[in-house]
Amino acid sequence: MGRAEAAAMIPGLALLWAVGLGDAAPNLPRLRLSFQELQARHGIRTFRLERTCCYEALLVDEERGRLFVGAENHVASLSLDNISKRAKKLAWPAPVEWREECNWAGKDIGTECMNFVKLLHAYNHTHLLACGTGAFHPTCAFVEVGHRLEEPVLRLDLKKLEDGKGKSPYDPRHRAASVLVGEELYSGVAADLMGRDFTIFRSLGQNPSLRTEPHDSRWLNEPKFVKVFWIPESDNPDDDKIYFFFRESAVEAAAAMGRMTVSRVGQICRNDLGGQRSLVNKWTTFLKARLVCSVPGVEGDTHFDQLQDVFLLSSRDRQTPLLYAVFSTSSGIFQGSAVCVYSMNDVRRAFLGPFAHKEGPTHQWVSYQGRVPYPRPGMCPSKTFGTFSSTKDFPDDVIQFARNHPLMYNSVLPMGGRPLFLQVGAGYTFTQIAADRVAAADGHYDVLFIGTDVGTVLKVISVPQGSRPHSEGLLLEELQVFEDSATITSMQISSKRHQLYIGSPSAVAQIALHRCTVLGRACAECCLARDPYCAWDGSACTRFQTTAKRRFRRQDIRNGDPSTLCSGESSHTALLERKVLGVESGSAFLECEPRSLQAHVEWTFHRAGESAHTQVLADERAERTARGLLLRGLSRQDSGVYLCVAVEHGFSQPLRRMVLHVLSAVQAERLARAEEAAAPAPPGPKLWYRDFLQLVEPSGSGGANSLRMCHPQPGPHSVATESRRKGRNRRMHASELRAERGPRSAAHW
Ligand SMILES: *[C@@H]1O[C@H](CO)[C@@H](O)[C@H](O)[C@H]1NC(C)=O
Ligand SMILES: *[C@@H]1O[C@H](CO)[C@@H](O)[C@H](O)[C@H]1NC(C)=O
Repeated sequence: MGRAEAAAMIPGLALLWAVGLGDAAPNLPRLRLSFQELQARHGIRTFRLERTCCYEALLVDEERGRLFVGAENHVASLSLDNISKRAKKLAWPAPVEWREECNWAGKDIGTECMNFVKLLHAYNHTHLLACGTGAFHPTCAFVEVGHRLEEPVLRLDLKKLEDGKGKSPYDPRHRAASVLVGEELYSGVAADLMGRDFTIFRSLGQNPSLRTEPHDSRWLNEPKFVKVFWIPESDNPDDDKIYFFFRESAVEAAAAMGRMTVSRVGQICRNDLGGQRSLVNKWTTFLKARLVCSVPGVEGDTHFDQLQDVFLLSSRDRQTPLLYAVFSTSSGIFQGSAVCVYSMNDVRRAFLGPFAHKEGPTHQWVSYQGRVPYPRPGMCPSKTFGTFSSTKDFPDDVIQFARNHPLMYNSVLPMGGRPLFLQVGAGYTFTQIAADRVAAADGHYDVLFIGTDVGTVLKVISVPQGSRPHSEGLLLEELQVFEDSATITSMQISSKRHQLYIGSPSAVAQIALHRCTVLGRACAECCLARDPYCAWDGSACTRFQTTAKRRFRRQDIRNGDPSTLCSGESSHTALLERKVLGVESGSAFLECEPRSLQAHVEWTFHRAGESAHTQVLADERAERTARGLLLRGLSRQDSGVYLCVAVEHGFSQPLRRMVLHVLSAVQAERLARAEEAAAPAPPGPKLWYRDFLQLVEPSGSGGANSLRMCHPQPGPHSVATESRRKGRNRRMHASELRAERGPRSAAHW
């Protein structure tokens, strides 16, 4: 049995997670940017309406230059260039009667009996289609947005509302998954108040409304719909299919295993008209297959079962886009998320493979071996593959077979057979994904933006490993886009404007896809960052332009190797030498913190008057912290030059050179007195001193983990003279400031 088949039928071991994964440390981003940093330096923009929650529907309209937003009781129209600028909004509350009915039905008037706008689609040149929960009374409306750029319009006629049943969910906690094709809306929702009648539904447009067989667990078994896409199959529109992505309870799981969630891709034909005698007004072309995202292991595969989101990345060929999907685990044992990539050809292959069939006294699910009727269920009626012009002409045996065999036996496996990117034990899960294909100096790269349930966006690039199609995800950035760590519930990208729009229960945020200047001020740093949007232009890390001259765009995404690219670039000249004073038997802190969290620091020491360099190894006197090197119990022998070198990806880059001068206690006292006579201590160093104390003696548990290990054990001298020392430190730093003109460069006492 191949892996695809094994996965399809879920052997008992499949849920066991491989031992190896448990030991895996979470991937560290190369750069981590806080909300404050994004706000101060990288132009993050935020939009929120007063007393309004749940910015769940986002629609990018490149032509009008607007971002349309659906939230609780509101639709808003924002500028794509700056969502904080000149926003227009319209109120769309649920009528009082509906809210009262909702309340009588036992729902909460304040949190549930509202109109949560769940879907927004561009309908025609002048109108959007908007649907909301309408206080458990789903409703749709056409919102007038005008057709001219200059004067954004936002108007809604409350007298002309459409029934939203089967379009928007009733329950604000449910997600809407839908696509508008022409004038037809294809949606996956619960179509009843109780939230039990799940359906894949077609409405609006000229074609008849169709749905899935109700209350048949073989078709849908408590599904949670995630995304819907329209993907052409050939040049003939009659072959067009609609693909549904969802997760549901596995009907094929052995009863002994209890309830088990699996992820699915389902298909229907756009030109399906339903059956004539049977399956009337129901889909006759519905098929579904399992979507597997797992890590192969010796003791069984580790499955990421909970599909969270799918992004369709178009290629030049509209029929073969790539599907980027994020999953989380349902395991109680560990928390993990993964990105898996699927090719449309693999999806189609599963639908052309064997059907799953429940058979025999044990009711085992097996591969159907009998005769499959013609035309093969799942095929669209078209001239391309057959002679039938409508599903109403399909023979009865085809309809019967389709009704009883919606599930395929083979699963769809991810490209490369495993996740592109994993995050295990990081304390968050992935919720959303968007992707952008970027032209770089050495080819095209897919850049992924992954939203999490803690308000962060991860930026990951897909780098080919060896022979394609195997790729690996590299975590470049972790951005805190919501200050309140709200779950990211929607995400839209504008490749044209290089912007990402992110929705959460509390607000909408906008950030640029790249922040080249933050990557560093040297060619090597820019190169090591491996951001396909950025390149070294000879003097700075800037936006990569395919049109610029080759020597002005140094970039190596595939290998991130600066040794050849940046040769001749003088990064050493930027290295400032700093003086640090220390006192015998006291301590000194040599600050050196690489920007990249993926770099590690090496220290070399060159003793004054000697020619040899030695590496500073960690011992009880020399402690490495995330922010630098802490030297304790100083002796005169420690005087000399300390060089801090960041090593990343096998490449070394000198960051700082520090000259430590260790004074005897007598010298220190003399210096302090001279200082005092010259000038009183300015207020600055006092602050600086407090900073430093915090650094080595963090209070509370809120500090970074790495700092917690950094408690200096004071030697006998330092304890005895604690209060005096504090005063002295302050004064001594004053001299240092004057010598260096660089606050917080180093410390001593
Ligand atoms: C966006 O617009 C707001 C409001 O007009 C303004 O304060 C802010 O500076 C703008 N941001 C950018 C990056 O243009
Ligand atoms: C767009 O659709 C709306 C709603 O059906 C309709 O009122 C409007 O006239 C249409 N506009 C165009 C340009 O077709």
